Amino acid sequence: MRKKIIVANWKMNKTIQEAVSFANEMNKHSNFRCDVALCAPFTALSELRKSLDKRFHVGAQNIHYEESGAFTGEVSALMIKEFCRHVIVGHSERRQLFKEDDLTINRKARTALKHGIIPVVCVGETLQERESGRTNEVVQKQIKEGLKDVDIGQVIIAYEPVWAIGTGKNATPAQAEEVHAFIRRIICSEKTRILYGGYVKPENAGSLLKQKNIDGALVGGASLDVKNFIGICQNA
Ligand code: PGA
Repeated sequence: MRKKIIVANWKMNKTIQEAVSFANEMNKHSNFRCDVALCAPFTALSELRKSLDKRFHVGAQNIHYEESGAFTGEVSALMIKEFCRHVIVGHSERRQLFKEDDLTINRKARTALKHGIIPVVCVGETLQERESGRTNEVVQKQIKEGLKDVDIGQVIIAYEPVWAIGTGKNATPAQAEEVHAFIRRIICSEKTRILYGGYVKPENAGSLLKQKNIDGALVGGASLDVKNFIGICQNA
């Protein structure tokens, strides 16, 4: 059976001090039955790893696909591997705002794995793509190209419908499960965990996580408040 995992995506939020106080609150809880990972800004990774109990994981939200070189402002897998077990790759905000394509995402995922970091590879359709009946086609292309030559058993996939991210609209458990089951069929792996992301909060986490192919959640907004985040972990 796949163990559930709840992954926080803090995005561009939290100072080092705020990250450390979040960790101190998390450390008081030892009753979660799921894995937990906190994907923090680069600046907080080192202190977060020091403060957070070792039963919880730390992750990054992006990496460059090269190991070093003239890439002003970028951070490589080599620089974060001592703190991070996970890295989010191909989040829709990276795809839309920073023009990342499936080829770039593929290179990042492969670099992460090379350095022993588990990529959490995000896929998902826009509202327009859903409304024109193209959800499966879009997701299949993102998986096929983004995970080309990648050992599927070594990664985590996050299905995040773009229309549900930070919008207050979440996919119903049935809508999400339909896409998760489709992803399960195309990856042909019972081992790979497939997370749902898009307005997950304590109130809806239970019903989403009960679905057969939903193996956890990637949580944005609700992961910023430690009580909400703990609520989601308890519902897993
Ligand atoms: P949200 O974000 O939970 O705020 O919708 C999810 C994400 O962007 O990963």
